[in-house]
Order: sequence, then C-alpha cells, then structure tokens
Amino acid sequence: MKKSILSACICASLGLLSFSALAHQAGDILVRVGLTTVAPDDSSSNIEVGGADLGVGLSVDNNTQLGLNFAYFLTDNINVEVLAATPFSHDVNFSVSDPLGTGDKLAEVKHLPPTVTVNYYFNDASSAFQPYIGAGINYTIFFDEQFTSANDNAGLADLSLDNSFGLSAQVGADYKLEDNWYVNASVRWIDIDTEASFNLNGTAGKVNDITIDPWVYSITLGYTF
Ligand code: NI
Repeated sequence: MKKSILSACICASLGLLSFSALAHQAGDILVRVGLTTVAPDDSSSNIEVGGADLGVGLSVDNNTQLGLNFAYFLTDNINVEVLAATPFSHDVNFSVSDPLGTGDKLAEVKHLPPTVTVNYYFNDASSAFQPYIGAGINYTIFFDEQFTSANDNAGLADLSLDNSFGLSAQVGADYKLEDNWYVNASVRWIDIDTEASFNLNGTAGKVNDITIDPWVYSITLGYTF
C-alpha cells in the first residue's frame, strides 16, 4: 500500500516536471528566424511643390523579409524581445493612377524597423501552446530612397524620409514542438509616421504627413537556449 502511494507521488511529480518544461523559464534565451511581412495601413497628405498642393498623395506597398527575433526571459512570464530583419523595401505609389505621366509608381524606399518589446506570457505549464501579449517601442530608419527612373527623368530628385519613433503592440504564441524547438506566430502593430522632402527641378517639395502604421505578421521557427 505504502509503496503504491509512493509510486503515485513519484509519477505525479514527474508529471509536474514534464508539464513545467513546456513553459518558458526565467533565464531562457529564445532565438527565432522566419518570415516577417510589413503591411502598411497607410495614408498621406498631398504632395506639395513650392507651396502648391498637387492634389495627389502617396500609398505604400507590402513587403516580406527574413525576420530575426531575440528574446530573453526576465521571469517565467516576462521577456524582453528585439525584432530585427533584413531591410524592407517598399514601393511608394501615387494615390491616383499616373498623375504626372510617369507611371503609377513614384519611388522605392528601404527601412529597418528595430523594435524592443516587453511581453507577458500567460504561461500555462500544462500546454505546449504559450500565448503572450506585448508592448514596446520602435525606431524606423529609412534609407536608400530612390525615385523611379521615369520620375527621375521628370526632374524629381533628392528624396528623403524622416526616421520615425513610436509605440508598438503585439499578440503572439509559441508552440513547443519538441526539445527546445518552437514555432511562433505573431501580429504586431507599429506606429510609424514620417514626412518626405525632395526637389523638383530645383524647387523644394514635401509630403508633410505620411502615416504608415503597419500591421507586421511573423511566422518563425524558434530555439531556446
Ligand atoms: Ni501613426
């Protein structure tokens, strides 16, 4: 009788051990690699040249890149995560079709949107499915801004977009596969706003308010150390 109680206790504690191994733990380092799509929910004020409103705004297309993600667990429930990626490259189009006779596409811009997020895991020790919510800050660096050759030939030059600093929020989940491997999916929103400056045949132009505010979707494979 005593022996069977003892073995029941051992079985129960072994069960608890294997349950707790399903959840993340303080000190874990989680590295994820996969695909990240930036899908702008964009709008803009009109393009102005020399103070004249051209009556046309901008729109910004989606782009998918290699997403990299590093997270460190401060506690069993809380991690700090850095989102990195290979540079995103977005088409910037006119808001109406071909207003200048130079095509629908105005330019191409690259950006890097490093984001630091603090995430809270609900941390159900009995489940391989580990959802979390997080909030953080983003700094988006725009570079390599280039008008299309048709717009370049039309006299547009020196395109520059201001960098953006803003908040972000996300929901996501890790699903434990086996050993230290996870698949992860996350959806995040980032507040990215910028303004553009350029020249048209020597006259200064600008777009004062460009709202990009993208939804950012990631699917990654993770490994915890
Ligand atoms: Ni915004």
